[in-house]
Amino acid sequence: MKRIAICPGSFDPITNGHIDVIKRTAELFDGVIVAPLNNPSKKPLFSLEEKIELILNCTSDIPNVKVESFSGLLTDFFAVKQAIVVVKGLRAVSDYENELQMAVGNRHLNGKLETLFMPTSTEFSYLSSSMVKEVASLGKTVESWVHPIVSEALEKKYRKHG
Ligand code: PNS
Repeated sequence: MKRIAICPGSFDPITNGHIDVIKRTAELFDGVIVAPLNNPSKKPLFSLEEKIELILNCTSDIPNVKVESFSGLLTDFFAVKQAIVVVKGLRAVSDYENELQMAVGNRHLNGKLETLFMPTSTEFSYLSSSMVKEVASLGKTVESWVHPIVSEALEKKYRKHG
C-alpha cells in the first residue's frame, strides 16, 4: 500500500519555503497531496483555482506530488485519501502554538491522524506568504522568495489592483 502524506495549507501564494517542505516530504513518502485551502480567518489574495495552478507549476518537477483541494474537515479528507500522515512546516517557535493546536484537534477528531512537523530549511525560516505579498504589493521584486511563475502572478495582481 502506498504511503501518502498530505501537506495542507493556505498557500496564498506558495513560497520557496513551502516548496522546500513539499520536496523533502516527497523524498520520505510514496506520494504527497498538496492541499490548498482557504483559511476562514484570512482573506485570500488568490482564488483556490489560482493557488492550485501555481502549486502545479511549482511542483511539476516532483513526480510523486499531486495537488488537490477539499472543502470541510482535513480529517475527513485524510480518511478518504487513506493518507498516513499530515506534514506541516515549522519556521519558528511562533508557528508551534497554532500548529500544535491544529495537530491535537485533528487527532481528537480522528485518532489515526498523525501530524509531523518538519523544520523549514534555515534560509526560509523568516519567509511567509504575508511578507511576500506585502513586499510585492509595494513594487519590490520577490524573485528570491518565490518561483518565477508566482512572482509574475503577484505582479499581475498588484498591477490590476493598483
Ligand atoms: O497555512 P495555514 O493557514 O496555517 O493552513 C491552515 C489549514 C488550512 C491547514 C487549516 O485551517 C485546516 O486544516 N483547515 C481545514 C478545516 C479543518 O479541518 N479544521 C479543523 C482543524 S483542527
